[in-house]
Amino acid sequence: MFNFLRKKKENVSLFYNTDVHCHILPGVDHGAHTVEQSLEMLEEEIKMGINRVICTSHVTADTFENTPETLTNAYNVLSQAVKEAGLDIELHASAEYRIDEYWEQQYAAGNVLPMPGKYILMENSFQQELLQLDELLFDLMLHGYKPILAHPERYGYYSHRHNRYEKMHGQGVKFQINLLSLAGYFGQGARENAMWLIKHGMVDMLGTDMHNTEHAHIIQEYLRSKDWRKLAPQLMPNIINDNVK
Ligand SMILES: [Fe+2]
Repeated sequence: MFNFLRKKKENVSLFYNTDVHCHILPGVDHGAHTVEQSLEMLEEEIKMGINRVICTSHVTADTFENTPETLTNAYNVLSQAVKEAGLDIELHASAEYRIDEYWEQQYAAGNVLPMPGKYILMENSFQQELLQLDELLFDLMLHGYKPILAHPERYGYYSHRHNRYEKMHGQGVKFQINLLSLAGYFGQGARENAMWLIKHGMVDMLGTDMHNTEHAHIIQEYLRSKDWRKLAPQLMPNIINDNVK
């Protein structure tokens, strides 16, 4: 009877089907801690029209020293749970590799778990840019990897050095920005950098980077905003999330 009072829930579907950045694998970083939490997060992905998830758990020195084996084990546990829950979603195990001494060691030993198509998600230091960053990214490409820089908008030291974005992107590095950054979750600086990257056609991929369902809810609210409706058509021609295969 009071249906006319109920606000119609707007569609929050994204225009692509693959999330390339999230912390959904259970118990391997500070994202999902349990399989139940992983399943809840996957349900939120489905609400946004996602049906393929590349799980990119942290690999960082000291805190999350994951290996292809620890990630694959968590992936196997989650895959089984997804099957039992009957969720219609395809999973892949990969990582978000922080460029640090642990990465150097693991890369030298061949212990890396890239995404399908040999894409690999790399995270810069948040304090300062590494001296050998360009060489390192070039070396990855030389070995057939397709490096994706995770959330370039979040590295504050690039705010006044947009030429670094141009150089890296020109070199062939793919840029993935966070939907949470567009929503303002990481502050004005990150949002401004993201807007600059969009304006200059340097955004190749979008990611949720979700660590919990709260992040998903913030993104879903953003996807209902006027801001997103305005930005989505600008982003659409360049976004290659679904090419990760
Ligand atoms: Fe992340």
